[in-house]
Amino acid sequence: MAASLNRNVFLLFISVLCFCHAVYGQWPIPYRRYKSRPISNSYCKAGVIPFCPTGQIANSMPKFKPDDKVQLYALKKPVWQFKFGDTLGKFHIMHDALGISNLNTGMNYTMEWYELFQLFNCTFPHVVNDSLLWCNQGAACIYGGIEDRLWKENGTLQLVATTNGDVFNQFAEWVLWDNTTGLYYETWTVRDKPDGKMWFDSFDCASWVLRAFQEFGKLGVKFDQTVKLNYTRINLFSDMPKYLGNQSMVFANKTLGNDIMKFYSKFQAHVAGPLLIEHLISALEEILIQNKFYFFYNEEYWFLPMKSPHVKLTYNEIPLPS
Ligand SMILES: *[C@@H]1O[C@H](CO)[C@@H](O)[C@H](O)[C@H]1NC(C)=O
Ligand SMILES: *[C@@H]1O[C@H](CO)[C@@H](O)[C@H](O)[C@H]1NC(C)=O
Ligand SMILES: *[C@@H]1O[C@H](CO)[C@@H](O)[C@H](O)[C@H]1NC(C)=O
Ligand SMILES: *[C@@H]1O[C@H](CO)[C@@H](O)[C@H](O)[C@H]1NC(C)=O
Ligand SMILES: *[C@@H]1O[C@H](CO)[C@@H](O)[C@H](O)[C@H]1NC(C)=O
Ligand SMILES: *[C@@H]1O[C@H](CO)[C@@H](O)[C@H](O)[C@H]1NC(C)=O
Ligand SMILES: *[C@@H]1O[C@H](CO)[C@@H](O)[C@H](O)[C@H]1NC(C)=O
Ligand SMILES: *[C@@H]1O[C@H](CO)[C@@H](O)[C@H](O)[C@H]1NC(C)=O
Repeated sequence: MAASLNRNVFLLFISVLCFCHAVYGQWPIPYRRYKSRPISNSYCKAGVIPFCPTGQIANSMPKFKPDDKVQLYALKKPVWQFKFGDTLGKFHIMHDALGISNLNTGMNYTMEWYELFQLFNCTFPHVVNDSLLWCNQGAACIYGGIEDRLWKENGTLQLVATTNGDVFNQFAEWVLWDNTTGLYYETWTVRDKPDGKMWFDSFDCASWVLRAFQEFGKLGVKFDQTVKLNYTRINLFSDMPKYLGNQSMVFANKTLGNDIMKFYSKFQAHVAGPLLIEHLISALEEILIQNKFYFFYNEEYWFLPMKSPHVKLTYNEIPLPS
């Protein structure tokens, strides 16, 4: 009896160990790639500005002659500059993009990866019909021209490398692949502590620019190493996250489903306001006294046992590929 009990405990221990390994085996949790991009729920509507109003038609990229001379620019501007000028820039809340200049054709292009339905919709779901609905897709937008003043005046317009049309054309294929497989925006970076182990990486405009630079690096592009660039991150701090499951799994448990809805019901102002970030941080401060956060990643929920300093904005340097 005791022996079989021990054996069962041992098996349980092993299976828990295996489960933990399968789920917690690698941190940060890899961002999920998909086979194709679904159309968002018709409930999701862009309020202030539509996504990519002047962009190229979907799934197309400009094609360059192989020996065209091509310059790459790092672009930054304060988030919502069109509405609030450089206000958010003062807090280092910056939007990142990539500028491409074809010196042979004289054509300029701007490439950005951003939210289809704005930042708040990518950060919190809507509580609708006793359920949660996310409008959290992000995608790449490419349009003609680089609006010098827009980037330079309160941000950055910085030449980082020179390459050729052949490399650009290979990069363009990567952009299209990335755009059909990486679908969901992630606002937060989740860490153990400042500079500590990362549990989840963000997936936002800055991470797209960083991926793009890496891709150019892999294609052999040499970057100007004297250029230093910092990137905005909104960090959450927690002990090891606990996996909860996808929407149908968490809602199968009434207590859990209700608790998650209660949590998100505090974040239902899905509009851009001048003090949005400030409201957000203060609402978070309040809720984080309870040290709990229901986090959504790869279309699955996790419980974050939050701890001090809970939430923090950072603007640190990430070197260009060498
Ligand atoms: C967020 O999504 C809701 C629902 O689709 C929409 O009404 C609202 O305009 C969106 N917010 C912004 C800022 O686009
Ligand atoms: C990326 O996908 C979005 C959403 O389908 C689309 O609007 C956009 O044009 C695509 N971008 C490119 C460069 O194909
Ligand atoms: C830069 O910020 C100032 C001060 O907020 C604002 O007046 C100006 O319009 C901004 N520049 C651009 C290009 O938006
Ligand atoms: C292209 O953009 C670069 C960087 O903003 C600028 O220096 C250049 O004048 C632009 N070229 C054209 C033809 O607009
Ligand atoms: C919510 O329920 C109403 C009534 O059944 C329905 O008309 C509406 O489409 C539902 N909304 C969503 C987003 O599913
Ligand atoms: C949720 O996960 C379960 C178990 O892994 C799976 O059977 C189900 O299809 C998933 N549901 C959704 C909506 O992804
Ligand atoms: C349901 O969720 C609650 C709250 O997270 C948890 O305490 C409970 O054990 C769960 N019940 C089942 C059957 O998983
Ligand atoms: C940029 O990042 C570096 C190192 O991460 C930091 O020392 C510096 O203060 C940052 N610059 C700004 C303007 O925050």
